[in-house]
Amino acid sequence: MSKEMTRRAMLAAAGAGAALGAAAQDAPPAEEKILIIGVSGSPRKGKTTATAMAAALEAAKGVDPRITTELVDLGGMKIAGSDVTSSSAGSAPDDFDAILPLLKSPNLGGLLIGSPCYFRSLSSLCKAFLERLAVLREPELLLADVPVGALAVGSYRNGGQELVIEQILTAMLCHEAMLVGGKPRAHQGATLWNAHKDDIAQDELGMESARLLGVRVAGAAVKLAASKK
Ligand SMILES: Cc1cc2nc3c(=O)[nH]c(=O)nc-3n(C[C@H](O)[C@H](O)[C@H](O)COP(=O)(O)O)c2cc1C
Repeated sequence: MSKEMTRRAMLAAAGAGAALGAAAQDAPPAEEKILIIGVSGSPRKGKTTATAMAAALEAAKGVDPRITTELVDLGGMKIAGSDVTSSSAGSAPDDFDAILPLLKSPNLGGLLIGSPCYFRSLSSLCKAFLERLAVLREPELLLADVPVGALAVGSYRNGGQELVIEQILTAMLCHEAMLVGGKPRAHQGATLWNAHKDDIAQDELGMESARLLGVRVAGAAVKLAASKK
C-alpha cells in the first residue's frame, strides 16, 4: 500500500475524512464501487464487537474512494445453524435470508467477520452464520479470492482472541477465500480486550488493530478489483 493510501486510511479512521478534500469524496460510479462487509457475530447488538467492526470499516473506507462499507450486526437476529440442505433457508426461514442478498453483491470486495470470545471459541451465533455461508459455495464458490479478515473481542487479555480468529479463518478456507491478517502489529487480525465494562474505545491497542485489519482487507480488495479489469 502506498504511503498516501495509508495516510488517508488513518485520517479517515481518526474521523478526519473532511481533510481529504472534495475530490476524494466524489461518489464513484456504481460499477466501480468496492463493497466491504463487516459482520459482527455477537448476540449483543451494538456492543464491543460491533463497535470494533465499525472502526475497522471506517478505516477501510479511507483506503480508496471507491470503497463502500456495510456493517451487518447479527445482534438480535435469529440465525440457525445449517440443516444440511443446499437452500439458504434453515429448517425454517430466519434472519439469514435477509442478509444473503447483500453477501451476494456482485461488487463484494472484502469481508470482515468478528466474534466475541465465548469460552475461548466463537459465539454460537457467529458459528451458525459461518455454517449458513455454505450457500455461497455451491454451485459456485462466490467468495473465492475475496479477502477475508477476522476480529475477536474478549474480556480477558488472553481470553482466546487469537483462537477465535483462527477458527473463523479456518472456516473461510472452505470458500477458497483469500485469508488476510491486519497490517503490521495486527498480523493475525484484530484482537480486542473488553476490560472497561463495554467501553471498547478505551482499548486503544485493540481498536488500532481493528483499523489495521480494515486497512489490510481494503488494500487487498482494491488489488483484487484491479486484477479483474
Ligand atoms: C458465555 C460467555 C463466555 C465468555 N467467554 C470468554 C472467554 O473465554 N474469554 C474472554 O476473554 N471473554 C469471554 N467472555 C466475555 C466476552 O467475550 C466479552 O464480554 C465481549 O466483549 C463480548 O462481546 P460483545 O460486547 O460484542 O457482546 C464471555 C462471555 C460470555 C457471555
